[in-house]
Amino acid sequence: MIIDELISKANEARNNAYAPYSSFKVGAALLGKSGTIYTGANVENASYGLTVCAERIAVFKAVTSGEKDFEAIAICGSGQGYIYPCGACLQVLAEFSPEINIIITDEKNSYKEYNLSELLPQVFLLEK
Ligand code: THU
Repeated sequence: MIIDELISKANEARNNAYAPYSSFKVGAALLGKSGTIYTGANVENASYGLTVCAERIAVFKAVTSGEKDFEAIAICGSGQGYIYPCGACLQVLAEFSPEINIIITDEKNSYKEYNLSELLPQVFLLEK
C-alpha cells in the first residue's frame, strides 16, 4: 500500500537528517501526482533560524525536479508521539497542493491522515 511505502521511505530518509543541535531527526516522503516519491530530512544550522524542515526539503527537491502537484506526504520523527508539520511547512505545501493528504506517524509507525485544509484552514495565496 502506498501509505506504507511512504512511511517506510520517510523513515529511511530520516537517517540522512543533519540535526546536531536538537538531535531530533525528521524524515519526509512526498508523493507526486506522477507517482514519483521525493524524500527529505531536516538540515539544521549553527545559526538556528536557518534550519530547514524535512517537509520543505522534500517539496523543494520535487519542485526543482519539475514536479509541482502532490498527492500525499508522510512524516516520521524520532519519538515524542505524532509529528505534525510546522506552520511554515503547511504554507509551503499549500502553495503547490492545498488538498494534499498529510500522514503523520508516531515512533511505533502508527499513523493518522489529514487533509491539509484541516491543518491549515485558511491559506495565504496570491493570484499568479
Ligand atoms: N522539524 C522538521 O523537520 N519537521 C517538522 O515537522 C517539525 C520540526 C525539525 C526542525 C528541527 O531541525 C527539529 O525538527 C527540531 O525542531
